[in-house]
Amino acid sequence: MITSHELRSKYIEFFKSKDHAEISGKSLIPENDPTVLFTTAGMHPLVPYLLGEPHPAGKRLTDYQKCVRTGDIDEVGDAAHLTCFEMLGNWSLGDYFKKESIAWSYEFLTSPRWLALDPRLISVTVFAGDENAPRDEESAAIWKSIGMPEDRIAYLPASDNWWAAGPTGPCGPDTEIFYWVGEGLPPPGSNKGTDPKRWMEIWNNVFMEYNRIDEKTLVKLPAQNVDTGMGLERTTTVLQGKTSVYETEIFRPIIAAIEAVSGYAYGSDAERDRSVRIIADHVRSATFILGDPKGVLPSNVGAGYVLRRLIRRAVRHGRKLGVAEPFLTKPAAVVIENFKGPYPELEDNRAKILEALEAEERKFLETLEKGEHEFEKMLPNLLKNPDRVMSGRLAFKLYDTYGFPIELTEELASEQGMRVNREEYEAAFKKHQELSRAGADQLFKGGLADHSEVSTKYHTATHLLHEALKRVLGPHVAQKGSNITTERLRFDFAHGAPMTKEELAQVEALVNEQIARDLPVTMTIMKLEEAKAVGARALFGEKYEENVKVYTIGDFSKEVCGGPHVERTGLLGTFRIQKEQSSSAGVRRIYAVLE
Ligand code: SER
Repeated sequence: MITSHELRSKYIEFFKSKDHAEISGKSLIPENDPTVLFTTAGMHPLVPYLLGEPHPAGKRLTDYQKCVRTGDIDEVGDAAHLTCFEMLGNWSLGDYFKKESIAWSYEFLTSPRWLALDPRLISVTVFAGDENAPRDEESAAIWKSIGMPEDRIAYLPASDNWWAAGPTGPCGPDTEIFYWVGEGLPPPGSNKGTDPKRWMEIWNNVFMEYNRIDEKTLVKLPAQNVDTGMGLERTTTVLQGKTSVYETEIFRPIIAAIEAVSGYAYGSDAERDRSVRIIADHVRSATFILGDPKGVLPSNVGAGYVLRRLIRRAVRHGRKLGVAEPFLTKPAAVVIENFKGPYPELEDNRAKILEALEAEERKFLETLEKGEHEFEKMLPNLLKNPDRVMSGRLAFKLYDTYGFPIELTEELASEQGMRVNREEYEAAFKKHQELSRAGADQLFKGGLADHSEVSTKYHTATHLLHEALKRVLGPHVAQKGSNITTERLRFDFAHGAPMTKEELAQVEALVNEQIARDLPVTMTIMKLEEAKAVGARALFGEKYEENVKVYTIGDFSKEVCGGPHVERTGLLGTFRIQKEQSSSAGVRRIYAVLE
């Protein structure tokens, strides 16, 4: 039986045998992309290249990529939903197209040399066509030519067979591959269209030849690209004939660690089993987020907030299993052990992961105590209520002010023979959620990887700023983070003290001088070693491919970077530093604008 580690290796090996360069997966925290909190799909780091930037490793690429998606966090606990998953991918950047993509997918799945799946258990879908693009007869014909029976091909509409990473950006029709999860053999005529529940999607081949500019405008991309993604956990599950990912070797050892600390035997009670699955999923995600080279710590904003929620929810479900002490480091150690092969950063950051988990757990346990204390203070008044109903507003206040979960408020109330007005609570909660969702929607407004002219200028300005800081403050200045929106740039760098007024003025002047010189910006692809040899700056903690792109700005700066950049610095306008402040210990942060 194939394991997930074997599936990952075979996939990469197969595509290497088809002349794909293996590139390394990227950080979970997207660099220079303020529109999303996490890398949410295998193709996400590839967006600039799908839009037309040349990739230093060539036109055929393959990788495995860790991803985090927390949109459906409340559904985690069932058999299938995960907040952290791996995607196997292969890409053609204007090289091969439908014919090779489909034929290779089929070969990988069915050839005895590779996965050796029974072709009778495979079916596919293709795009049925609409006002944006024609019915994909071409893909259907390719499928038939390699042996896919006609009745295993379903033509489905855009809701099924059109893939886009976000509201704007690269997109196109796809052909999806499904594996039979019903009993015996699929009957004649069965496919995803006629029998949707018994076919499980395992692979998605997107033919990305369009770019959505806005709601009304769809344009052709400069090249016909292929973007495929195979969900590692899901595919492992069906290949092993299991019905849930929690039954595979990806999760069993994590579950065993939870059983050991809680004394609860998985499989004895449906409600507690759900808690075990929630803990297993959340601890795995938290470990990957904390273990990322650009890992964040729990906080009240952005990615740090998502991390905090994952940890707290896991702790809460631990209490349901009767665990009162911090325990997450035990299953987390198993995650590190099992995934450090493909993700060595987990081992590198072992101490950080375990310490942060335990600190956050302790903090949350204190929160819980505080909430219980507040509840007790409210109690005399509550008991005066003859209906024995605690108002939902009060329950929400406990949640909102102390982070005290509603389930625990209900538990405490019921111990006093009371119940909580849940409807009122839900109403208050919903109002709160709508407010924060309005914030989250803002985050997606620009689509993925904003390549507008303005952001491109900020990319180039960031390189100038980086170099200017080094020249003014000294060679210890190293980039610690960068974030660009259409309104400003934000740059974090290592430096031990606040910058003086004079230093700030010098940096600003040095950048503006380079703008005034109207220096050319050029790009060369070279080996990473060469890039180092010519003194190109490279980013902290990033993994690089063997070949990298080096952007040179006149005689002023050389930096390894994915791009894009403007052609001449004269296009930038006037550079102005708005703010310089502390970011964290030993790290300063600058906000700057182009005017
Ligand atoms: N973009 C597609 C997906 O995420 C294939 O990589 O499913």
